[in-house]
Amino acid sequence: MDRIRIVGGAPLNGVIPISGAKNAALPLMIASLLTRETLTLENVPHLADVALLKRILGNHGVDCMVQGKRAGQNGTTGETIELSARDIVDTTAPYELVSKMRASFWVVGPLIARMGEARVSLPGGCAIGTRPVDLFIMALRDLGADIDIDGGYVVARAPKGLRGAHIRFPKVTVGATHVAMMAASLARGETVIENAAREPEVIDLASCLLAMGAKIAGAGTSTIQIEGVDALSGVRHKVMADRIEAGTYACAVAMTGGEVFLEGATPSILQKPLEVLGEVGAEVTATNEGIRVKRNGSGLSPIEVSTAPFPGFPTDLQAQLMALVCRADGTSRIRETIFENRFMHVQELARLGADIQLDGQMATVSGVAKLKGAEVMATDLRASVSLVIAGLAAEGETVVNRVYHLDRGFERIEQKLGACGATIERISA
Ligand code: UD1
Repeated sequence: MDRIRIVGGAPLNGVIPISGAKNAALPLMIASLLTRETLTLENVPHLADVALLKRILGNHGVDCMVQGKRAGQNGTTGETIELSARDIVDTTAPYELVSKMRASFWVVGPLIARMGEARVSLPGGCAIGTRPVDLFIMALRDLGADIDIDGGYVVARAPKGLRGAHIRFPKVTVGATHVAMMAASLARGETVIENAAREPEVIDLASCLLAMGAKIAGAGTSTIQIEGVDALSGVRHKVMADRIEAGTYACAVAMTGGEVFLEGATPSILQKPLEVLGEVGAEVTATNEGIRVKRNGSGLSPIEVSTAPFPGFPTDLQAQLMALVCRADGTSRIRETIFENRFMHVQELARLGADIQLDGQMATVSGVAKLKGAEVMATDLRASVSLVIAGLAAEGETVVNRVYHLDRGFERIEQKLGACGATIERISA
């Protein structure tokens, strides 16, 4: 297994190009199942999760072709992929594949909507909490699907097709909002989704579905209306920039000091994290081309933050923010409200010298004057990257094990940070 070795202490200075968003690319790729025509996605990041989803979609009969580079493109831009689900050959998503990536469960929506049947494995255990699928099942039942759980599989049937419905989520869920929106696009009649997730990735999926011929209004608000259509067509769509990747590098610069331009980052969808970084002591400037983050010398201030659905502070940046305030002058409080067990980074940050007390959903972080490099590992994507950030600011050498978690969600992380002056290298197994 690969490892990442970091020698901390250098400030970050330079430009970091922001990649296409993993959390948008995955549902967009899954949307290819809704049409016989070709869906072309640009700016798809090179990530292990994307590669795995290609395999999963291939299993259902989706042809996936990576387009050649165009003149002027270099190795740093995302890829353009063509996904053609002309004939769906298999409506089963097996345990071996779904258990490797939870988002692949989302194929249940397009499959039942287009084929009238789907047999999709329950995702199984997950490192960041129990993450049930009851709200997906609720939404699909509302849309008229018969659903049984059989041998670890969700078996959904709607031989006469889905019908529009009123769906009210008791809790905001990004995944079930994606699935309900995709399924309702091919249902008969009108669907209203209440208490829908307002995440920018939901808007990105909706705009792609609109271009494919779906009739959707209100994406980005908590009420989404969908008028079902008979069929959707192929289209070309560019995946939005990754706000979590941008927020992660912003935390890194705030921690190490220096000045970095996050090229292609979208400030309007990062308002809350940028506000928090400002409170901590970073200087943040939004431009049309990206976001500039700077911190020179001054100390870091402690903060109080709770994670929340968009537009609140994202749970996907909680671990990175925690790494940052480990070095603050004072005590910070970070409450995790989305996933009950998303604190795996705490014990590992402690190995670097952090002082963090956990009490249920609340982490109390007492800032320390310095962190010291150590060998660490994490069992989740965002937790892993928080250790990289901490390592960049720690004295001496940090080795992050189980790098495959990072490869699931961060494209070329060691090159991007290395180009800004970090001493960071991958040690191949
Ligand atoms: C997505 C993101 C993930 C992010 C999360 C919250 C992707 C691939 N993943 O995950 O990075 O951390 O949104 O912004 O885009 N819940 C239920 N029942 C359900 C579904 C969800 O109780 O049927 C609960 C979950 O346990 C959690 C909360 O709802 O407590 C939010 O989960 P959800 O928004 O669905 O997260 P994901 O879509 O899995």
